[in-house]
Amino acid sequence: MTQKVFLTGGRGRLGTELKLAFNHVFAPSSTQLDTRNFDQTLTALQNEKPDLIVHTAAYTNVAQAETERSACWHTNVQGTENLVKVANILDIKLIHISTDYVFWGDRGMYKEEDTPGPTRNYYALTKLVAESVARLANKHLIIRTSFRPREWPYPSAFEDVYTSQDYVDIIAPDIILAVKAHEQIPFTTLHIATERKSVYELAKRRKPEVQKGSKQNVTVSLPDDISLDVSRWQRLKESLG
Ligand SMILES: NC(=O)c1ccc[n+]([C@@H]2O[C@H](COP(=O)([O-])OP(=O)(O)OC[C@H]3O[C@@H](n4cnc5c(N)ncnc54)[C@H](OP(=O)(O)O)[C@@H]3O)[C@@H](O)[C@H]2O)c1
Repeated sequence: MTQKVFLTGGRGRLGTELKLAFNHVFAPSSTQLDTRNFDQTLTALQNEKPDLIVHTAAYTNVAQAETERSACWHTNVQGTENLVKVANILDIKLIHISTDYVFWGDRGMYKEEDTPGPTRNYYALTKLVAESVARLANKHLIIRTSFRPREWPYPSAFEDVYTSQDYVDIIAPDIILAVKAHEQIPFTTLHIATERKSVYELAKRRKPEVQKGSKQNVTVSLPDDISLDVSRWQRLKESLG
């Protein structure tokens, strides 16, 4: 059965890729629907009557979040809370997009069952709280992921930061598969990413001339190894394939 998807953040990096994958999708911009506003959120979902909510909308500017804490909190935490309340009122499942940054990032290969936190920055803190809020939805799936735009945008990349992130056009198809097959996923948390590698290795794949950089040369606190264990998703993907 074709499901009608209500997609938040449909104009964002990930949301743009997701929006194209569904025939039956309603993806309001933040001007059409500000998720921080409960009444607007309730009305939009009552009008659209979707089968599923996919919540990608977030305040994602990590550096700016340090000085715009209130804006970041309200979008990431209150926005998620409003969607959870409405999802429960209307009995709709919520698929919430979260991040590898809910982990501290010292040892890597984090599994879904590992206790997240502490967090490196304010954005990560709000995403960790948002996850806890999303778990209050009666029907939910939390997808932790990490991605970069299609092209590597910087002249250098850290060789001393390890990650399982990948380019958005590689990550998005897996998230789309998980969303389409959500009824067959017997978990409430899922890591969707690729293999562990340094950020430099990742950057070199699409920008061969990229220079080696080090996190020692920046002032912001960065993880050593924020990689996610994705074996649960790999097994599931094979069975869904
Ligand atoms: N980028 C990464 O590296 C990364 C890594 C891990 C996880 N994630 C998570 O993945 C998701 C998508 O990230 P992204 O990088 O694709 O995001 P993005 O490009 O920054 O886009 C964010 C989207 O959120 C919408 N938005 C912001 N505030 C809103 C509000 N108050 N009401 C409604 N919509 C609002 C924006 O809508 P308008 O454009 O209409 O204003 C925009 O479409 C987020 O949950 C993020 O935390 C991202």
